[in-house]
Amino acid sequence: TDPALIRNFCIIAHIDHGKSTLADRMLQITGVVEDRQMRAQYLDRMDIERERGITIKSQAVRIPFTALDDNTYTLDLIDTPGHVDFTYEVSRSLAACEGAVLLVDAAQGIEAQTLANLYMALENDLTIIPVLNKIDLPAAQPEKYAEELAGIIGCEPSDVLRVSAKTGEGVEELLNEIVRQIPQPVGEAEAPARAMIFDSVYDTYRGVVTYVRVVDGRLSPRERIQMMSTRASHEILEIGVSSPEPTKCDGLGVGEVGYIITGVKDVRQSKVGDTITSLNRPATGMLSGYQEPKPMVFSGLYPIEGTDYPVLRDALEKLQLNDAALVFEPETSAALGFGFRCGFLGLLHLEITRARLEREFNLDLISTAPNVVYRVEMEDATEHVVTNPSEFPAGKIAAIYEPMVKATVLSPSDYIGQIMELCQERRGDLQGMDYLSEDRVEMRYILPMAEIVFDFFDHLKSRTKGYASLDYEPTGEQQADLVKVDILLQGEAVDAFSAIVHKDKAYTYGVEMTKKLRELIPRQQFEVPIQAAVGARVIARENIRAIRKDVLAKCYGGDISRKRKLLEKQKEGKKRMKMVGRVEVPQEAFISALSTD
Ligand code: GTP
Repeated sequence: TDPALIRNFCIIAHIDHGKSTLADRMLQITGVVEDRQMRAQYLDRMDIERERGITIKSQAVRIPFTALDDNTYTLDLIDTPGHVDFTYEVSRSLAACEGAVLLVDAAQGIEAQTLANLYMALENDLTIIPVLNKIDLPAAQPEKYAEELAGIIGCEPSDVLRVSAKTGEGVEELLNEIVRQIPQPVGEAEAPARAMIFDSVYDTYRGVVTYVRVVDGRLSPRERIQMMSTRASHEILEIGVSSPEPTKCDGLGVGEVGYIITGVKDVRQSKVGDTITSLNRPATGMLSGYQEPKPMVFSGLYPIEGTDYPVLRDALEKLQLNDAALVFEPETSAALGFGFRCGFLGLLHLEITRARLEREFNLDLISTAPNVVYRVEMEDATEHVVTNPSEFPAGKIAAIYEPMVKATVLSPSDYIGQIMELCQERRGDLQGMDYLSEDRVEMRYILPMAEIVFDFFDHLKSRTKGYASLDYEPTGEQQADLVKVDILLQGEAVDAFSAIVHKDKAYTYGVEMTKKLRELIPRQQFEVPIQAAVGARVIARENIRAIRKDVLAKCYGGDISRKRKLLEKQKEGKKRMKMVGRVEVPQEAFISALSTD
């Protein structure tokens, strides 16, 4: 295809602002998908995405479109993942485009995540086409939000397009504006091939399907290619485009977007951001921007039934085929038995993985409280990277570093006070504040990642009646006054409950955890002290008093069947007990104590 007739673009939008509906409408208007075959939300494929209303994996679809100038253009719509944990994947999708449609709900206005992705698109020098969607809604305020968008990107309110993805109004004009405003791709046709991987998906039947954007040269079927980050080489078994079903073609040239299949079985061998070149005539330099996926949040995953351990291992291996960011290694906990310490990009990534393990593999799991990765420098100049609080080094510590994030909060200005209060409680540092319009404000904070991975978003939502939105990205590390708090039952530390917290919060954590456990652990034949300790210093203590009474004492003799029932119940309950030293702890206690509320 002549690059002059190619337009590569993506849609930047907040969840529910109508990205999928708009994409579907474009496919329908251009005849790519016939009305009767039109499956709602063509681009979102995984059930779990649909259910939670999020797009996890980006893909591309080719749309032929005859514009007002009577030329037929090839529009490649690259779908971007919608959640904050997948910032890197978003950045690669953007890097594969020359332009972006900034889609904003005309009844809601722009949200933090959209703004963050917009800034990323601007950094990548993309042409931005601002669009208000849902103008058919009675609650739409196109004037107000056109003004807001114009202010943010520096255009005239009249430049903001207005569409209804639902009715189709304005969508054809939008397609024409995409052709008119977004530049054609540029690259060197005769140069050695360079293509950027912007997505990589594992398919049970076809192996890994790698989505690429060709920058220079050409990729052809049967050609041997090389991954520039690892130097591994593969043969292209199939090359094609999604229109929207996979369709083979005889190669991809400058500016083209499509997929290749090489027979590799694991997305780790075909990583997002990597550059593909030709083995026989390799390019000298990689395309810029490649990053190794880096897990930021760790949690222990344990099967509730110990016999499920091999099933859990298989399940994690299967998920890993399609998830280059998921890492795991076996771990043993005195309290929880055999499990895995797993690393994730963020809390949502953790939740999705956990939900898939439970649903697709039918596993019941306990997950330990998520923690970030700490770097500990010792006085003897050794260094430890701590991904599990129970492995916090003993000995003389010189300094502890924790990961930080740059967070953006958008909110109606009425809630500035509440947001500042919350961010202060979470050790945040206000970097700046801007009014987007008269009554909406953007606040920028630097916060410790540990303070937001837990329940920050829930608190933000409840304190702003659901109006605030949040986005964040990692931004280096900072030294902090952190300590490890251990929880001891009868003097024995329970590994699953150890936590690394800020010094000022150690006491609260200790008091809350010991109280919780006192309520959850049943009385035993002997007294059980529950203590919270920092090193050798006890900072909180509760007692579970001893029972002497036989369980049957309650039954006053008489009723035999009731007695039997009680005994059986007790036996059943026993099965789900874990021994911590001499103390019997019901599994339920661990689950409840580790749950987030
Ligand atoms: P994710 O894929 O979850 O990120 O969401 P999305 O941004 O793709 O939103 P989606 O297309 O699923 O639309 C969200 C809701 O808005 C759906 O219920 C749509 O039917 C509705 N919607 C989308 N566009 C319009 C529109 O132009 N008018 C009206 N009234 N509703 C719309």
